[in-house]
Amino acid sequence: MHIKIALLAGDGIGPEVIAQAVKVCDAIAVKFKHTIEWKSALIGAVAIDETGEPYPDETHQICLNTDAILFGAIGHPKYDNNPNATIRPEQGLLKMRKKLGLFANVRPTFTFPSLIDKSPLKRERIEGTDLVFLRELTGGIYFGKKGRTDEGETAYDHCVYSREEVKRLAKKGFELAMTRSKKLCCVDKANVLETSRLWRETVQNMEKDYPEVQVSYEFVDAVAMRLVQWPSSYDVLITENLFGDILTDEASVISGSMGLMPSASVGTHTSLYEPIHGSYPQATGKNIANPLATVLSAAMLFEDALGLTEEATAIRTVVNKSLAAGIVTEDLAENTKAYGTNEVGDWLAKNV
Ligand code: IPM
Ligand code: MN
Repeated sequence: MHIKIALLAGDGIGPEVIAQAVKVCDAIAVKFKHTIEWKSALIGAVAIDETGEPYPDETHQICLNTDAILFGAIGHPKYDNNPNATIRPEQGLLKMRKKLGLFANVRPTFTFPSLIDKSPLKRERIEGTDLVFLRELTGGIYFGKKGRTDEGETAYDHCVYSREEVKRLAKKGFELAMTRSKKLCCVDKANVLETSRLWRETVQNMEKDYPEVQVSYEFVDAVAMRLVQWPSSYDVLITENLFGDILTDEASVISGSMGLMPSASVGTHTSLYEPIHGSYPQATGKNIANPLATVLSAAMLFEDALGLTEEATAIRTVVNKSLAAGIVTEDLAENTKAYGTNEVGDWLAKNV
């Protein structure tokens, strides 16, 4: 198969982790007789530096004309520490999500048997954890009207959802639940927020179309607590944009390192695959970032965007082997040698 992948390395450690995923994908292509055409494009702070735009139109065109997008990370401290910056790297990500219609963000959390004691949570709490968040990604408070009144002394961000937006996300949730243990949890704050009441009402109305799925409704604050107490009690969780942003970071540490969890964003146009971690500016250029979340995102890309399950399995298998063999970056090395980002990538590619 001839595969076209847009490569958006972005900022910080993005280029370093992306380079390892490319090595692994190229090795997979040789093994399974595919050809991969990589199309690099700018996004984030690097794109602002070069073009003045965090998501240039040229990048958008490349994204529209490929089979899938592999994305690194976005963000730079020079913008974080400047509240007056009007152009920010993160706007590139939000613009891309909106323009590509990527309304569903799929963020799994699972444990690796060889890493179970690396988790900050006790073994008996997390064993067997295998859950997936479906975070709504193009609506809510992220995209509502925002501004200042009262001569800048008061600020607001509107949280807005339409029934259709909730429905299309929830539909994916029900469908995913049907392929798993048929358990769906709708996370909201319906005791306080009107948007949450619309979410709950919409999901309740859809229950009859999926009679086999057992649906629960839980408040976001309670989920935040139960997620670290009994993560294995959850399977598929659906939620709005901001709640999903927060809860998926929380969930990502269950596995032992934020450097492990992959994600996919899917919707109307080309799907996007990215590690859940950010640009980690302090580690940039040090060859210490964990590339596994990006490599595992590439596995999701093969499976979901290309329908190549064997290739995805081959990637996951080699990742498990590297963990078992202790070929890991410093976030996972404890009393053992820490390998560089590059070395981990080389080892993976060689062992594919
Ligand atoms: C994420 C990130 C982004 C978000 C930022 C960088 C805008 O935290 O993908 O979770 O908040 O959605
Ligand atoms: Mn986030």
